[in-house]
Amino acid sequence: MPSLRVETPQRAYDAIVERGCIARLAEFVPPGAGKIFVVTTADVWALHAAAVERALAGRPHQVLFFPGGEPRKKMAEVETLAGQMVAGGGDRSSVVVAFGGGIVTDVAGFLAAIFMRGIPVIQIPTTLLAQVDAAVGGKTGVNLVAGKNLVGSFHQPLVVLIDPAVLHTLPEREYRAGLYEIIKCGVIRDADLFRELAERSREVFAQDPATVDRIIAAAVRIKAEVVTADEREGDLRRILNFGHTMGHALEAETRYDRFLHGEAVAFGMHVATALAEAVVELPAAEAARIHTVIRQYGPIPSLNGITPEKLFARLAADKKTVQGKVHFVLPAKIGAVKIVTGVDGRAVMDAIEAVLASYAALA
Ligand SMILES: NC(=O)c1ccc[n+]([C@@H]2O[C@H](COP(=O)([O-])OP(=O)(O)OC[C@H]3O[C@@H](n4cnc5c(N)ncnc54)[C@H](O)[C@@H]3O)[C@@H](O)[C@H]2O)c1
Ligand SMILES: [Zn+2]
Repeated sequence: MPSLRVETPQRAYDAIVERGCIARLAEFVPPGAGKIFVVTTADVWALHAAAVERALAGRPHQVLFFPGGEPRKKMAEVETLAGQMVAGGGDRSSVVVAFGGGIVTDVAGFLAAIFMRGIPVIQIPTTLLAQVDAAVGGKTGVNLVAGKNLVGSFHQPLVVLIDPAVLHTLPEREYRAGLYEIIKCGVIRDADLFRELAERSREVFAQDPATVDRIIAAAVRIKAEVVTADEREGDLRRILNFGHTMGHALEAETRYDRFLHGEAVAFGMHVATALAEAVVELPAAEAARIHTVIRQYGPIPSLNGITPEKLFARLAADKKTVQGKVHFVLPAKIGAVKIVTGVDGRAVMDAIEAVLASYAALA
């Protein structure tokens, strides 16, 4: 099974996509390491403790429970966890294992980044979103009252162990939210991946192992390539933002409590696709294929009360806006995108309107 290499100035490591790879955890604990602290949530531990316990049998380790949820992704919780590590005999030789969704991988990664000025972390993501996105690339952090992910650090892991077998317990909605990020990867850089998502949705939904493993590996490959090239090619990382400009606006407009991140990105990809037809001459047939595949993995929550004006106003507040001109990642064809700055506001409003109308027609 694939090992995707991530090379950053801080460290080079593998993201391993392999069923059962949690069993290999001890292989990646450095020789001479001290106590291992597994940071997880009670729900994930209740479902999947056995794999980790088996892998760490005979090694000094302790499980630390983090309450989970976006409101708890904050400094105070990191401080609590650090205190528990000290009380448990943690020191500079300790290792953190992050075992959970993206919230856990962000919090535990940040804990490792700052505990005694930095100790190693091993990432074991258990949601689809964390497997294809959050756990790969070394971004860690927590929220402030003022906004999401405002405090954090780059802390690259020793390894990312991606075991698709843990996904069978994931609620379907969370699974679909992760699938939207994989659709994104197909549109921006991998037409074969896109085709597979279009043609094999039944296998994807049924979690057919060969299919799921292949699409995860394809998405992780793209994240690994982009992170690896990041230092040299600033623009490349931005392609991962396809669907995110408008997705973030929708998340903010609904106070982060109606849409899962991936669902908001699904909406954003519809808007970017409509805009791409107008702005970068994405052929109508390709646009239709993108809309269809996003819909295939739906539904997303109701868009009641959302207006083009409100979303447009949110865009202006986004940090990606330059002098009132928004910029977008727009597909020129499936598998290739352009970053377009200074998109005309009227075209953006039209694209939002068209997507809202198409959802209203379905309701
Ligand atoms: N660092 C990055 O580059 C990056 C990238 C994308 C997202 N993120 C962050 O990731 C977070 C979202 O992560 P998420 O979508 O994974 O949400 P999450 O971590 O809240 O997980 C979703 C839910 O699923 C549960 N769960 C996890 N694994 C499970 C399993 N195998 N079976 C059953 N239930 C399981 C969790 O306990 C939680 O209740 C956000 O805070 C976001 O900022 C970070
Ligand atoms: Zn995203």
